[in-house]
Amino acid sequence: MSKVRIAVIGAGMFGQRHLAYLRREPACEIAAIADPSAAAAAYAATEGLRHFADYRAMLEEVKPDGAIIASPNALHVPMGLACAERKVHMLVEKPLADTVAAACELSTAAERAGVALLVGHHRRHNPMLEKARELVQGGAIGKLTAVAAFWLIRKPDDYFNVAWRREQGGGPILINLIHDIDDLRFVCGEIDRVQAMVSNAVRGFPVEDTAAIALRFASGALGTVTLSDAVPAPWSWELTTGESPLYPQRAENCYLFAGTMGSLSVPALELWRYHGEQSWSASLDRERIEVAAEDPLTRQLRHFARVIRGEEAPRITGADATRTLAATLAVSEAAASGRVVTLN
Ligand SMILES: NC(=O)c1ccc[n+]([C@@H]2O[C@H](COP(=O)([O-])OP(=O)(O)OC[C@H]3O[C@@H](n4cnc5c(N)ncnc54)[C@H](O)[C@@H]3O)[C@@H](O)[C@H]2O)c1
Repeated sequence: MSKVRIAVIGAGMFGQRHLAYLRREPACEIAAIADPSAAAAAYAATEGLRHFADYRAMLEEVKPDGAIIASPNALHVPMGLACAERKVHMLVEKPLADTVAAACELSTAAERAGVALLVGHHRRHNPMLEKARELVQGGAIGKLTAVAAFWLIRKPDDYFNVAWRREQGGGPILINLIHDIDDLRFVCGEIDRVQAMVSNAVRGFPVEDTAAIALRFASGALGTVTLSDAVPAPWSWELTTGESPLYPQRAENCYLFAGTMGSLSVPALELWRYHGEQSWSASLDRERIEVAAEDPLTRQLRHFARVIRGEEAPRITGADATRTLAATLAVSEAAASGRVVTLN
């Protein structure tokens, strides 16, 4: 079977991570990288990769089978539109776009062009999260009633040396919470109402450092997310799942799902249920669900290769990721207005 030829547009921190995965994936070949920075040119020279400063020139000349777009968020849509025009299938990093309208524009363009659009909500390729969804949606905890999610972590001080990370839109809601919102949609279904409060009391930057969020799901279940990037705490996806070697793992949880017949912790995948009388004075039994760990970024890339070959449909489509984006932007809107934001 011939290899799929994949280009990377935007070879910064995460683009280089994609390139590292591409290099060791036998089904894939790196077609080229496109990035105007001197650092990217130097990286390409060191790694022996074809390099273009202009992504349009790269698409015209290299004609890759697929492109991974890992550029600053505001560029995802123009780059995705350029791929769609040239019939290049794409994996676009999250957030799909800066606004819901732009995300819709790209989804529609890809669909009209018959080009596959996969969005990089890579956690959905984690077998542990797939199992959590299967358990919750399969009724293992009865009717889902309440969810508590946490993203409590300490970013280092030098993270904020970059100006845009101190401004609105550059903070934990759009950069980090979007992952948790996507996870919650994946496990619990659609979110239809959002309320939120935000605070910048720790650092005093224009961007939020802390948020308290209330969600209502279309099923009627209620959820909360407590978020802060200014606290030394182990309760975040990054520190609990061991998904990335960048974050030393702790054996704690970041999500708690509670239903009428039991509850489930993530990532521990401990199911808590009564096996006799359903009463707080009866013994609540704990069952550990085992899942073989697999690296989600490897699985995502293999999936993208099969999508390019036309063997699979994208698991996270533009329309799906647009709903995650809308729910995430609704958090900022709800906090700014003090109102309940309803999603349709
Ligand atoms: N899925 C995840 O967990 C995850 C993690 C980190 C970042 N991301 C996403 O990846 C994207 C990139 O983030 P990052 O942290 O790597 O940022 P970064 O700033 O390190 O890299 C962005 C790169 O894009 C390049 N770029 C700028 N303009 C360009 C242009 N016109 N053409 C081509 N390249 C251009 C920059 O030179 C830079 O090298 C963001 O959308 C971010 O949200 C996703």
